[in-house]
Amino acid sequence: MNQNPIRIGIITASDRAARGAYEDRSGPAIEQWLRDRLTSPWQPVYHVVPDDRERLERELMRMADEEGCCLIVTTGGTGPAPRDVTPEATEAVCDKMLPGFGELMRSVSYQHVPTAILSRQTAGIRGRTLIVNLPGKPKAIGECLEVIFPAIPDCLDVLGGPRLECDPEKLNVYRAHDG
Ligand code: MTE
Repeated sequence: MNQNPIRIGIITASDRAARGAYEDRSGPAIEQWLRDRLTSPWQPVYHVVPDDRERLERELMRMADEEGCCLIVTTGGTGPAPRDVTPEATEAVCDKMLPGFGELMRSVSYQHVPTAILSRQTAGIRGRTLIVNLPGKPKAIGECLEVIFPAIPDCLDVLGGPRLECDPEKLNVYRAHDG
């Protein structure tokens, strides 16, 4: 059995957080959400990147290809502002898109905020790495992860990645390809 901890990338896309104008709260919120639910040994690979398409693409590729992250969760840069380019960077580095993630998150987020339709968040696969975009607001992190995460361990199984186990009291993971 592979004893190496599973590596999960967390990227905050934010000009202001990257230059220190405020402290990033969304990246740490993702890490905490995962710590509260994952029972497999894992470690975060965390980075704050400005809203710059090239730098985001480079960081996504580095985390997937060099750091060996099986999953990368981004936060921020999914809105309609000119500097919001996270979905474009994601699509550029992925071999295959999984539009269901964005569809589900928008429909669930819409029950919380009407501006959820402004979010262009998506997900895709680069090699054996699943990349998922979340919106930037810390409040959105849990709202979105709660609905999409049940399908993520199955996706990693199908990609030949590590088996991700979660606390069943906190999250009902659905493995369609088990057994
Ligand atoms: N989704 C949830 N669950 N909660 C939110 O507060 N904010 C919306 C949307 N999705 C929001 C949400 C807003 S205001 C925008 S502009 C988009 O996400 C994109 O946000 P981002 O540019 O910070 O990624």
